[in-house]
Amino acid sequence: MILLDGKSTSNQIKEEIAVETKQLVDKGMRAPHLAAILVGSNGASLTYVNAKVKACAKAGFESTLVNLSEEISEEKLLQEIENLNTNPEIDGFIVQLPLPKHIDEQKVLMAVNPDKDVDGFHPTNVGKMALNLPTFLPATPFGILELLERYKVETSGKHVVVIGRSHIVGSPMSILMSQKRTAGNSTVTITHSRTKNLKEITLQADIIVAALGIPEFLTADMVKEGVTVIDVGITRIADDTKKNGFRLAGDVHFESVSKKSNFITPVPGGVGPMTIAMLLKNTLLAAKRRS
Ligand code: GUN
Repeated sequence: MILLDGKSTSNQIKEEIAVETKQLVDKGMRAPHLAAILVGSNGASLTYVNAKVKACAKAGFESTLVNLSEEISEEKLLQEIENLNTNPEIDGFIVQLPLPKHIDEQKVLMAVNPDKDVDGFHPTNVGKMALNLPTFLPATPFGILELLERYKVETSGKHVVVIGRSHIVGSPMSILMSQKRTAGNSTVTITHSRTKNLKEITLQADIIVAALGIPEFLTADMVKEGVTVIDVGITRIADDTKKNGFRLAGDVHFESVSKKSNFITPVPGGVGPMTIAMLLKNTLLAAKRRS
């Protein structure tokens, strides 16, 4: 079993980005600048956004965190987005999801200027992604492709089973893996909560992407020997023995599934850090496009 180490791989990518950034800055370009909008103070979202901001410093980027009240109106949030759209100092920005219930998520994502949409969530960028045109790929699927490539996991002609059809992970992942690309050319099955006989399908998978958000859902009896497993889940589970009161669990029962796997990502330290590295990669791309 080979661990797909997202932590060390993402550090390597961040180092590569830092080197390229320094070269650009030495040539007189202003450092790339990422902004993040966080609405409310959801513990997990706060952790993710802080990690994104911290990663910017490591890569030599500027960053701005816009922290807004949970009660902010949709109109005011749209105004904040417009401020970032028109601010020439900002190369790219993200709106951390989920948003409070009174705000229309789709309306918010559509308000982001596609040229600054480093999350790749705007319909224009989703469309380009689906057509395999150059664009900002959504950071989590992008990170998974990068991990598969760097570990030289064979994907061509392999059967990839994606569990979960979210707009952020499952849906784009299924599209990308079927495309003509280095980590791609796969035969893809996308499964979800209405899928019948899921186990019959996962048992046929060469590669499984678990992105459904149910802790330790994928168990050893559901996978064949030699499988590659990508665990996108990250759920906080109450645990009194931990200082912060919780532990992190993926969508995969790691202990049993890893025994049958050729390659597997851990949680934490797998897909999560890769997502952040690829967000930086997109931001660098946005900055380079600017000049
Ligand atoms: N919430 C969970 N994943 C993501 C992500 O990749 N981007 C944003 N903006 N919010 C998220």
